[in-house]
Amino acid sequence: MTAAYDHPSSDELEPDLDEAERDELLDREVDDGRALEAIDHEDLDDVDEPAPAPEREPAPALALCVRCHERRVWDPAGFYPGDPYAGHCAGCRDQLTRDARLQAETEREAARAAELKAANERMHARFAASPYSCPDCGEKVLDRPGRCGACLVLERERQDRRDIVDATARALPVRYRWCSFSAPELAQRVLDTKAIAQVRKAVADGADRILLLGPTPGVGKTVLGACALVELAALRGFEGRFIEAQDYAYARARAPLGAEVPDVQAAIECDALVIDELGPDKPVHNSPVAETIHARHAAMRVTIVTSGVSLAQLAERFGDGILRRLTEGAAVIHVTKGAPR
Ligand SMILES: Nc1ncnc2c1ncn2[C@@H]1O[C@H](COP(=O)(O)OP(=O)(O)OP(=O)(O)O)[C@@H](O)[C@H]1O
Ligand SMILES: [Mg+2]
Ligand SMILES: [Zn+2]
Ligand SMILES: [Zn+2]
Repeated sequence: MTAAYDHPSSDELEPDLDEAERDELLDREVDDGRALEAIDHEDLDDVDEPAPAPEREPAPALALCVRCHERRVWDPAGFYPGDPYAGHCAGCRDQLTRDARLQAETEREAARAAELKAANERMHARFAASPYSCPDCGEKVLDRPGRCGACLVLERERQDRRDIVDATARALPVRYRWCSFSAPELAQRVLDTKAIAQVRKAVADGADRILLLGPTPGVGKTVLGACALVELAALRGFEGRFIEAQDYAYARARAPLGAEVPDVQAAIECDALVIDELGPDKPVHNSPVAETIHARHAAMRVTIVTSGVSLAQLAERFGDGILRRLTEGAAVIHVTKGAPR
């Protein structure tokens, strides 16, 4: 068995001490022992705990946005003197700028709408106060007597149409200038009422070729062709021309060599054309007749042909190709003497 280590007592270590001094020393040892005991058993936790930091001066507060109170503001005084968004963060600045722009836009929009409404009301008041009204439709008219805008446009269109009808009538031979389906002379001069009705219908139906045939002279083939031309001008605004086949056959022969032949070009390109008295006359050198029929057929322009000869004779003279272009899908109308009245 090992001997336990024994603390040397005070009197062994300090043999020269007197009674009082030894007591004092002993007391101190006892106190130290108590102190040790206290450290070991009572306040051990407190001893390891770091001492609380002494309270320091708080860090200077960062300037926070006066609007969102979240984001920092680097320049609380604003970017420039009088900055309306001083104290605002960048995000709030953006938002407020956008809001302000939108608000301004809305206000401008409202002002414009109000201006328009006011102008409209002023205009209505002016119309209501106007003593003038349109003679055609009765609508009020400002400042002057006469037609309203819409009726002026209509009147202008009617005038344009009248001009086309006049130009078409002037293109007719003088003898046929009276021609129109509404002319009172028509009933006396063309007795074939069925043929008259057929021609009117063909024009109304938009036929692009009308053939007026009949061997009898004076029954009204040319008159009906002229009437159809005038009707096309009135109904559809087509400016018409009239050529006599035999005369037209010489159009190029008459023209200076190599020069342009305006009559031929006009005959090919006009809206509506009457080719009167197409017949089996002897061929003319460089005649534009067949070419004109061909070109107008290709362009689907309205062509009206009168002839006193049969289709067979025309085929013989101009060939099957031209005849087909004249007759296929065409309104072929035979004009007769009609019933005597
Ligand atoms: N300006 C006019 N004045 C009087 N009568 C007219 C006039 N124009 C045409 N007519 C008459 O109208 C009728 C039809 O004439 P239109 O010239 O149309 O006959 P057509 O069938 O063409 O004859 P043709 O085969 O000889 O060419 C004829 O009786 C003619 O005398
Ligand atoms: Mg004739
Ligand atoms: Zn903010
Ligand atoms: Zn009007």
